[in-house]
Amino acid sequence: MKQRYKLLLAGLLMVIFSACEKRTESSVDKVPEQYGQSESAEITEQTENTEITGQTESVKTTGQTEQEHSATSETIQTETQTENNLTNGGGQRPQMQEGGHTVTGDRTFNFETKTVLLNSGYEMPIYGIGTYSLTGDTCAASVTAALNSGVRLIDTAHMYHNEEIVGEAVRNSAVPREEIFVITKLYPNQFSDPETAIEEALAKLDIDYIDMMLLHHPGEGDVEAYLAMEKAVADGKIRSLGLSNWYVEELEEFLPQINITPALVQNEIHPYYQENDVIPYIHSLGIVVQGWYPLGGRGYTAQLLGNEVISEIAAAHGRSSAQVILRWNLQKGVVVIPGSSNPNHIQENTELFDFELTEEEMERINALDRGEKHDWY
Ligand SMILES: NC(=O)c1ccc[n+]([C@@H]2O[C@H](COP(=O)([O-])OP(=O)(O)OC[C@H]3O[C@@H](n4cnc5c(N)ncnc54)[C@H](OP(=O)(O)O)[C@@H]3O)[C@@H](O)[C@H]2O)c1
Repeated sequence: MKQRYKLLLAGLLMVIFSACEKRTESSVDKVPEQYGQSESAEITEQTENTEITGQTESVKTTGQTEQEHSATSETIQTETQTENNLTNGGGQRPQMQEGGHTVTGDRTFNFETKTVLLNSGYEMPIYGIGTYSLTGDTCAASVTAALNSGVRLIDTAHMYHNEEIVGEAVRNSAVPREEIFVITKLYPNQFSDPETAIEEALAKLDIDYIDMMLLHHPGEGDVEAYLAMEKAVADGKIRSLGLSNWYVEELEEFLPQINITPALVQNEIHPYYQENDVIPYIHSLGIVVQGWYPLGGRGYTAQLLGNEVISEIAAAHGRSSAQVILRWNLQKGVVVIPGSSNPNHIQENTELFDFELTEEEMERINALDRGEKHDWY
């Protein structure tokens, strides 16, 4: 009788123990369904005030036992952060990831290293160059000028027809590959055969691995395409994943269907189209926001750069309007990738870290929002 009681008690304890384990896993990996009520948002909140936060159980360093891992997790992050700060965050891998991994914690921009720690565990520069509409020699010259000016983040896409040129410029540069962060994108017409599309991007870029791949737009087969990118992450071909042109509703529908939380969402953001409702939502998921058309996009830059409020603030700081807009983005926690083929503009767009907009100036620019999209998506 005593023996049976002991067995019953042991069984009961095992059930409770395994329920607790499941609960821990799901609070780490579960993708939130409701803005502000997500479990991962809770985790982020708990760690909000620490630059370098504790790890979730789903992140482990190779070769470590569970016990070693939990005892040293704090140290691993600290050491990695320091190492990455020294290398300007060009893509060092702080820790291995497992399953539906997410490195929880603060996505606050580090204005000293000019980087942000992604939920994939990699650091990414917070300013870069966009290459939309740059092709051939113009593209090569622009990327080279950018690298020479200290830019380490380059945004390209299958749709821009310049992945080969971007890859060549990266390979020809004296800057070590590891210090450069290249983003490319799969277009919806590639979603039906994402494996081939990923291989094509790797071959065209020819830079060993892709730092980050985004889905360019929502579209038929986007979940399958994303899952194929997840497989490429597991195979070491891609390091981080993201989405472009996904807003609140699209994210709520998409996230529960995938395993790896995107590290980044790239959307249209400029003073006339600010996405003030979308940005905090994306941030609350521990996802970094990157803005396209930061200067309004070609055809619109003159009116944006000539805006009276922006020009006034620029004059007060002895800066250009472009620099004020880019700095406003950074202070809002939005990564900038202005496009330019002018080496002077490219250089100017890097000089964003020796002045700061006041709260009042930020508010004045926030007040310029007109909900005015400069493209259809
Ligand atoms: N995911 C998406 O769907 C999507 C959509 C659009 C764009 N994007 C990405 O976002 C990037 C940025 O967008 P974008 O390049 O189209 O537009 P943008 O950065 O808003 O504007 C580019 C225009 O600004 C001018 N410019 C750049 N720096 C300047 C400066 N300091 N002073 C004055 N003018 C300056 C450029 O002219 P100069 O050449 O003369 O400097 C160019 O005409 C793209 O290149 C692309 O990588 C993504």
